[in-house]
Amino acid sequence: MQTITMIRPDDWHLHLRDGALLHETVPATARVFHRAVVMPNLVPPVTTVKAAMAYRERILAALPAAMTFQPLMTLYLTQTTSVDEIRAAAENPHVIGFKLYPAGATTNSSAGVTAVAEMGYVFEAMAEFGVPLLIHGEVTESHIDIFDREKVFIDRYLRHIVEQHPRLKVILEHITTADAADFVREARDGVAATITPQHLLMNRNDLLVGGVRPHNFCLPVLKRRSHQEALQQAAISGNPKFFLGTDSAPHARHKKEAACGCAGCYSAPAAIELYAEFFAQMDALDKLENFASRFGAEFYGFPLNTDTITLVKQEWTVPELIHADDEPFVPYWAGESLMWTLADSSN
Ligand code: DOR
Ligand code: ZN
Repeated sequence: MQTITMIRPDDWHLHLRDGALLHETVPATARVFHRAVVMPNLVPPVTTVKAAMAYRERILAALPAAMTFQPLMTLYLTQTTSVDEIRAAAENPHVIGFKLYPAGATTNSSAGVTAVAEMGYVFEAMAEFGVPLLIHGEVTESHIDIFDREKVFIDRYLRHIVEQHPRLKVILEHITTADAADFVREARDGVAATITPQHLLMNRNDLLVGGVRPHNFCLPVLKRRSHQEALQQAAISGNPKFFLGTDSAPHARHKKEAACGCAGCYSAPAAIELYAEFFAQMDALDKLENFASRFGAEFYGFPLNTDTITLVKQEWTVPELIHADDEPFVPYWAGESLMWTLADSSN
């Protein structure tokens, strides 16, 4: 039987949510990943080191005793984030960076940044203290087409941030366009991007052809096929600026299958298997380990994980439903088959 044994991967972009749902999301990620960058868009958002440490304790309390997992906490940047908070974040080993959500860009982002152009002093402090900036790169003005919002953010804000703050580490999260892939590839060192499984495996036809498919709706929204192809090439290129970040983001079924459905794909139950499916489709399985287990750690300055996972070539079907927190959730790829199965994981 064909197998792949690889260094244990990390997820550099993840939503775990809070409360009882942690008993589903934490083991679902920890079964495979050793570390994960945990997004702060709770209600209320995680804006302080103190709140992040309390959240971290709740995450670890939901971790089954036999598993090891290291949550790397992010703080939610607001228009009023202080330099003192940035200093405190820099001094705390469990905080990995600040997440910039333009206000209104996505789930629970209403407390986000309203004027990116006025945040220069914050970016300067982050650069000085060595705190990375993680970015949801979309503008939010209603007159800008949803399919153009990532490119407009790059042209209007990101080029400037990267140039003005040459020591700032910048991660453009969940990239969706050829424009973003080109920007990151051509940018100076210290600029990187995460890529989700859904943006590698799908394009907007998978959202809209034959009926609206709410479980494939995420933000930034899936783009046209040519953009998907650009992301695919970036992921298999071996360029260390591109690495794994699932953006796994559960919403209960009734919130997805609704007149105004929530954005987010709950991919954690099949995350590494989905990436393996994609790399196999591209005949590039030899590139999976660096993308999943090496480039992110190196970018952030972490050691590589010392244990391994093994995938075997054995077809399985992602469950149609997962019950968590007394509610049904539809995982990403529900009811569809995948060619690679997690065989062995010391977790
Ligand atoms: O699809 C998404 N879901 N994109 C985001 O940026 C946020 C996430 C969520 O929190 O549900
Ligand atoms: Zn996210």
